[in-house]
Amino acid sequence: MTANTKLVAGNWKMHGRRDMAAALAQAVCAGAPAGVDAALCVPFPYLAQVGDALTNGPVALGAQDLSEQDEGAYTGEVSGGMLAEFGCRYVIVGHSERRARHAESSARVAAKAARAVACGLTPIVCVGETLQEREGGQTLDVISAQLEPVLSLGADLVAQLVIAYEPVWAIGTGRTASVAQAVEVHGAIRHALRGCAPEVADAVRLLYGGSVKPETAPGLFAGEDIDGGLIGGAALDAASFLAICRAAAAAAR
Ligand code: PGA
Repeated sequence: MTANTKLVAGNWKMHGRRDMAAALAQAVCAGAPAGVDAALCVPFPYLAQVGDALTNGPVALGAQDLSEQDEGAYTGEVSGGMLAEFGCRYVIVGHSERRARHAESSARVAAKAARAVACGLTPIVCVGETLQEREGGQTLDVISAQLEPVLSLGADLVAQLVIAYEPVWAIGTGRTASVAQAVEVHGAIRHALRGCAPEVADAVRLLYGGSVKPETAPGLFAGEDIDGGLIGGAALDAASFLAICRAAAAAAR
């Protein structure tokens, strides 16, 4: 048995303007269905405004990164304590765009996940292989290596995680992984969780991300061990994001 309420998290990335952020958050909040946990992970400058729009509603606030440091002389970085102060519940860590553009190692991603948990936030830890790695038959090895430092943080910490499988070749490309491809990797992640934290493994939510659209969401969410989605492009349109949330609510029933 896995966690049965699914989680759908929008990742706005570096998109938006102030007026758009408020309107999008309000529309999502107003239309969010029952039976799903929904969250919006927004750019730092919009946290206060989106947080206000979501207050007392069914949609949680999230951010897209945090520092692994507590506080200090780290110009440009944002701490988990600051995110918590703004009402964040979730924070994405180790997105492939950060791993690639900011050379974030899996060890650093694990340190960020630990810092998030210490600040009372739920980290959404992203893993995923490149097209070259998939074509080279290395997918499961890559995922396992990316997960290793985070799984060695111990069962108490692992119990606080959300893990997102996002094949790099599917992100922003319109090329969603097939349900079978996603289920294979999610099954391998669940297996790894059972190995290191058997008592909590089934409760950790495993999200799929990579070009999820309203049309592909129902099939993906029906897949074994797919406990929700991390949604990029489709999260920038309230109607699409809400359709994905409804698919997740329907799949959980
Ligand atoms: P996408 O992005 O849905 O636009 O592919 C997903 C992500 O990068 O989290």
